[in-house]
Amino acid sequence: MPVITLANTKGGAGKTTATLILACELARRGNRVTILDADPRGWISRWHAIAGAGKLISVSSGVTEETIEDMTAKAKKRGGYILIDLPSSHDALLAKAVGLADHVLIPVQGCAMDAAGGADVLELLNELDARCGIQVAHSVVLTRVNAAVTTRALQAAKDFLASRAIPTLQTPIAERAAYRDIFDKGGALQALNPEEVSNLGKALDNAAQLADELIALLPQKAARPAARKPVMAKAA
Ligand SMILES: Nc1ncnc2c1ncn2[C@@H]1O[C@H](COP(=O)(O)OP(=O)(O)O)[C@@H](O)[C@H]1O
Ligand SMILES: [Mg+2]
Repeated sequence: MPVITLANTKGGAGKTTATLILACELARRGNRVTILDADPRGWISRWHAIAGAGKLISVSSGVTEETIEDMTAKAKKRGGYILIDLPSSHDALLAKAVGLADHVLIPVQGCAMDAAGGADVLELLNELDARCGIQVAHSVVLTRVNAAVTTRALQAAKDFLASRAIPTLQTPIAERAAYRDIFDKGGALQALNPEEVSNLGKALDNAAQLADELIALLPQKAARPAARKPVMAKAA
């Protein structure tokens, strides 16, 4: 039951979009996914209200600093993956959501650390380690990367982050119409109509690659697909 917290104190960094991309891809693989919508603006809850997204994805709305621990514990009972979509505030809610995470994913556009919004989160992670000895695994994910961007420019952004010893996913999230349309149309990314959404296939491939890389970074007790039956122990 890994908990993944999406954090960046800058609005528009791509937290909510990355949450939905991951939720849809993890569910496509047969995993239960619970999204804790901790953003009072409720984008994920609005998306879910449009068309739902199958039985595997459940959304808990209105999660606050007061309820996040209980909601996380409840979601853990349900099993599967838990994704926390945060608002862009720098407050106790952020600190709690980071403390609860098995992995903190920090979406960042370009290499300017999103005007320090990503740096805020990294600072918080460092403080947790220095003051409380709590080490939370984390990585930056480059978002809204123009598909036409040269590999060299992308590598420069990765090198910049590496030079500051900031763990960064190899897979960036590209700028795709599908990642915008999903908020208007509701439902899963995979349910969008390829005739209506340009480059849907590329958006789905990107989602799969992102999930592959993230899953490999999660604790080994990672969520089992909902459909898989327990393995029976063999008699001695
Ligand atoms: N990879 C992407 N491709 C296309 N549009 C994106 C992408 N990531 C974010 N956006 C758009 O950018 C805006 C801000 O993204 P959002 O995920 O809401 O950021 P945050 O949750 O960090 O505030 C939204 O309008 C969203 O549709
Ligand atoms: Mg958001």
